[in-house]
Amino acid sequence: MVTSVKGFKDFYGKEVRLFKSARKALEEVAESFAYEEILTPIVEYSELFERSVGQDTDIVEKEMYTFIDKSGRNITLRPEITASIARSYIEHHFETNPLPLKLYYLGPCFRYERPQKGRFRGFYQFGIEAIGDDSPLLDAEVIYIGYTIAQRLKLKNISVKINSIGCRKCRANYKEKLKEALKPHYDELCEDCKRRYYTNPLRILDCKKESAQLKNNLPKIIDYLCDDCKNHFESVLSYLDKFNIPFEIDNTLVRGLDYYTRTVFEVVSGDLGSQNALLGGGRYDYLIEELGGRPTPGVGFALGMERLVEIMKSQNFTVGLKDLVYIAHRPNTFEKAIMVADILRSYGLMVFLDIKNGSFKNQIERSVKRNAKYTVFIGEEELKNGSVMIKNMITKQQLEVKFNNLKDFFKERENA
Ligand code: HAM
Repeated sequence: MVTSVKGFKDFYGKEVRLFKSARKALEEVAESFAYEEILTPIVEYSELFERSVGQDTDIVEKEMYTFIDKSGRNITLRPEITASIARSYIEHHFETNPLPLKLYYLGPCFRYERPQKGRFRGFYQFGIEAIGDDSPLLDAEVIYIGYTIAQRLKLKNISVKINSIGCRKCRANYKEKLKEALKPHYDELCEDCKRRYYTNPLRILDCKKESAQLKNNLPKIIDYLCDDCKNHFESVLSYLDKFNIPFEIDNTLVRGLDYYTRTVFEVVSGDLGSQNALLGGGRYDYLIEELGGRPTPGVGFALGMERLVEIMKSQNFTVGLKDLVYIAHRPNTFEKAIMVADILRSYGLMVFLDIKNGSFKNQIERSVKRNAKYTVFIGEEELKNGSVMIKNMITKQQLEVKFNNLKDFFKERENA
């Protein structure tokens, strides 16, 4: 038997219904905040991620699905979508639109990570990006959208964590202070952090292998922010208060992608185990410039759909199917059956036309197996009368309904 590829997942049955209902809610929330959908390709030139996510990140160092295509181009299956949005923004001159431009997306991403609960090699991200303004109100509104999603879906055990990682100026200064403080502990660091000490020391703060005791004694970045970054962060926090969003400042939150500046945040769930970030994001004021565009600030987040479905499952969410109408017919009423099925579909009903035919007894057994709510019998007698016989499979009541009254029949039941 050929199985699915390690780290890749099928969605089916209940899970796919949860996925679809979540997607609908996410899209509705994004659109209610005036975000417009954007679709970008799942492949990009590898250079895009090397220059945006960053050479010294786990993603670029060891997790990219990269290949050389038949013409020798270096291509990567996208590990995330923000870089693609920035590329698209520059390439299509989106700056000619009123700014901030507000975009949302949903699609597959790929990272060659070690699979575990909540972590896959192929996963879906929903995300939003607001590009072209550095107002702290936009940071707060983006977080508010993440929070609204959790509220709208009635997720429990959710909390918001926030931090600021400053700008080029103050972060460079902080990095030096951090390295000074870490120096005496260098030998205690895990192998990855020994390397990060030289390449990306901020990542040591969110390494799960390092002790809380070590981390608690390290200098905190918010104490080293320059005045502009400090004021920006304070404004974001005061807007969060105005939006009534409970949050917690987490000094170890630094995020695993290099393009962030100032605000970084995560919405975490108590129902996800160690991979507890339902969504993560932040501000990226240099990204577009570093990819060759004009200096353009931006802020956004992405949410993992598998993690969202996992939370919904653990909180016993159910999404029922639409009521099914099963059509039973006789060989010489088949044409009428096709017509009735089409009419009922045009009323928005979910209709299953029996495909095996045979006796009504056999057809009704098949209707029961499919959990139909109604069985519509189209027999010769009914055809002569210009009607059908409808059986409510739950109450077992039967009613003869004229073709012309079908709409009213189902409308009344829908409203009941
Ligand atoms: P990220 O934190 O790498 O950020 O990913 C965002 C979310 O995608 C995570 O919180 C998680 O729910 C989901 N996710 C990431 N990796 C996996 C995985 N291997 N398996 C399952 N789910 C996963 C970004 O990707 C940024 N582009 C977010 C952003 C948008 N920042 C600004 N705008």
